[in-house]
Amino acid sequence: MKVNPTKTVNELITILPYIIDIDEKKKIYHSWRVAIISTLCAKNSVSNQQLKYIFYAALLHDIGGVGFPIHIIHYLKRTDKTSRNILLSHPIIGAQLISNIPRLNPSAQLILDHHEWINGMGYPRAKLKRGIPYGSQIIRIADTIDILLQIGRINDLKKLKNKMSADIGKEYTQELFIRTFRALQKKRLFSKIILARNVEAIFKEVHDEVGLLYIPLKIDAIGKTLEVVAQIIDMKHPFTSGHSLRVSRYAMAIALAMGLPHDEVTQIRWAGLIHDIGKLNVSRKLLDKSTPLNKREYKEIQQHAAQTYKIMNLITTLYAITPIAAAHHERYDGAGYPFGLKERQIPVGARILAICDAFDAMTSNRPYRRPLTFKEACSEIKNLSGKQFDPEVTDHALPLLRNLGF
Ligand SMILES: [Fe+2]
Ligand SMILES: [Fe+2]
Ligand SMILES: [Fe+2]
Repeated sequence: MKVNPTKTVNELITILPYIIDIDEKKKIYHSWRVAIISTLCAKNSVSNQQLKYIFYAALLHDIGGVGFPIHIIHYLKRTDKTSRNILLSHPIIGAQLISNIPRLNPSAQLILDHHEWINGMGYPRAKLKRGIPYGSQIIRIADTIDILLQIGRINDLKKLKNKMSADIGKEYTQELFIRTFRALQKKRLFSKIILARNVEAIFKEVHDEVGLLYIPLKIDAIGKTLEVVAQIIDMKHPFTSGHSLRVSRYAMAIALAMGLPHDEVTQIRWAGLIHDIGKLNVSRKLLDKSTPLNKREYKEIQQHAAQTYKIMNLITTLYAITPIAAAHHERYDGAGYPFGLKERQIPVGARILAICDAFDAMTSNRPYRRPLTFKEACSEIKNLSGKQFDPEVTDHALPLLRNLGF
């Protein structure tokens, strides 16, 4: 298996805004706009390497809010105490998550401070101007612009400038204020990015200009990054904490027990980490529902497998794991989804994942039922062997799964 961690890690990072910025299926474009404005503002005043860190930090600045019940942008203009308190954690959680991606530590540091104000009134550390990294200050002002645009509905550059001039010396410096508005005026950037339909294309232009962050081949950077993606997927709804990581670990053990070659084991491990990425495009209300689902709701949840296929197709360098990840709800007898594949039409990795996914769901707590014991889950899987699950894979899986309970 040929791998290029620089390309894949960069692809995985740029896919994340599709996850962060979905609000009940609507694209919000917050991360992209903040990344565009921050990068164009920072350009020419920092080194190329620093510009890359600012670009990625701006793109991922709100990733720590992914577990919030509604999109983070809605909390920002609320003044009640609960909303304020909810917000306090997201720079810290975001920094923790992103520091796990190899080579992204400098971006994690910028994320940590992206809500600090130069007058010390920001959070989480109430830092003063000289203690706040320049990149964080830039993200702060770019973030405020997009919030005023989206929540304040100000889409006139003059009005925006007027309104924001009140916070010079408080939230940001005058130097940065001038620099940012200069960037917004240049090539009529502001009038272009206020239209949602332009944002993706401008983002791509800016990204191409910034270039890729180099990731050395020596470390398992792709696996580490996928683990972060898995955490982000599982953070999005409360029932599934740790699900993707566990499925990936179970699957790896079964693949090993079946004697599959190293590269295939790795692909199955990676596919396990990302198999539910499509869930992020499913309505949050449905995923969080604490009562059993009706038929229509069930159908909608099933869409997540097809969505995984769609999102995975955006990560071109991981094409080998797409068919494995997307087929984790196919059934051996052909009655599964999204494609209705059967028996050997289903990649062996997906036949393994199907068992691990069901096993973890059965042994996890749900508001409407108690978890099965590992032994009970194993006999349930045995009953479904030949119908839902591949009998051969089941035979390899059961002795492993049964003994994990202790
Ligand atoms: Fe934020
Ligand atoms: Fe933000
Ligand atoms: Fe699934």
